[in-house]
Amino acid sequence: MVTGVRRAARLVGTALGLAALISMAALAAAQAPWTAPAGEKEKKNPLPADAQTIEQGRKVAQVNCVTCHGAKGKGDGAASVALNPKPADWTSKAVQDDTDGELFWKISTGRGAMPAWRHLPEKDRWALVGYIHSLAAK
Ligand code: HEC
Repeated sequence: MVTGVRRAARLVGTALGLAALISMAALAAAQAPWTAPAGEKEKKNPLPADAQTIEQGRKVAQVNCVTCHGAKGKGDGAASVALNPKPADWTSKAVQDDTDGELFWKISTGRGAMPAWRHLPEKDRWALVGYIHSLAAK
């Protein structure tokens, strides 16, 4: 009787241990949050948030970004099917909550399947930031 209880207790312990292991593995596989260094976050967009900037950004995105991020920036471009994590939805709160400097740094640096766009002229990258932030209202 006593041994039966002990064995049951041991089994429960093993099951709990396994569950803990599995959830830890799941956590490790999940994407870590992507945050820009503090100094980068504070950078302000030198371009005015006007129609010209937005149009320039839209054009640069059309050429370089829509295959992954989609024509409307929803993260649903043709190549998104094959990607995990998925390209970010620019209209999402997570992206819209990023500061100008944060977006500029992420666009310039890239991560995983998201290429680094440092080779694009700085002005084009700031125009992209202006364009992405203009998607908030839609
Ligand atoms: C080859 C596919 C691909 C292309 C092309 C691409 N991206 Fe991405 N992008 C991604 C993926 C995948 C992520 C998610 C990366 C992650 O979370 O690790 C991402 C994430 C982002 C983010 C979100 C950062 C955040 O806050 O999480 C921004 C902004 C972004 N891309 C901008 C751009 C811009 C601007 C261009 C064009 C100049 C571009 N991307 C081109 C795949 C792409």
